[in-house]
Amino acid sequence: GQLEGTSLPLFFGWFLLSPAKEKICCTSMDFLKTLDTLEAFKKHLNDFTQGADKEVDLEQYFKSKGPLHCTTKFCNYGKEDGAKEYAQNPLLLWPADAEKEVEGASSLPLGSRAHVTLGCAEGVEPVQTGLDLLEILAVQQGGQKGELVEEMELGSLSYYGEGRWLLSLREPIRTPACFSSVYG
Ligand code: A2P
Repeated sequence: GQLEGTSLPLFFGWFLLSPAKEKICCTSMDFLKTLDTLEAFKKHLNDFTQGADKEVDLEQYFKSKGPLHCTTKFCNYGKEDGAKEYAQNPLLLWPADAEKEVEGASSLPLGSRAHVTLGCAEGVEPVQTGLDLLEILAVQQGGQKGELVEEMELGSLSYYGEGRWLLSLREPIRTPACFSSVYG
């Protein structure tokens, strides 16, 4: 019935809790500050800003939207494929189809798309960060290592071309989180 159709949320996911949440925001701001000073990053800045020949302040460039979270299943109130199946299966954390949206990523293990969006440039929807992640993983799976550009305190920074940068953390950042859903 109609009620059944509206009972599914916008999405399910893990929501990061304080104080780790604030620490992650600070760490990402510090990272952007350092990135802003790297010549190697500036050299490729055009790949990023699509040729707009102007100074970019990275700390202003990325805007965060809503609470920090890791989406497990985007349901779009039931309109998304597999939404109902996901909601009805309490043991299944990662949906089977999340990796299929990017060419070359479909053979990656379930959950490969897991990520926390820290921010997006203006006009970029948050869904893009998961697709970017899958694209980098697909390139890696194809045997490409990326160009190691800088050893930073946080980890190794590599460039994969076309504006794709990857920071591989030296140590994982652990955070408590609460599994929940958002109705929007
Ligand atoms: P992400 O998890 O990468 O941040 P919105 O606010 O745009 O409605 O999206 C709500 C959440 O669901 C966001 O966290 C977003 O991305 C994720 N999301 C939005 N659209 C999709 C989609 N088509 N597929 C998977 N996740 C999505």
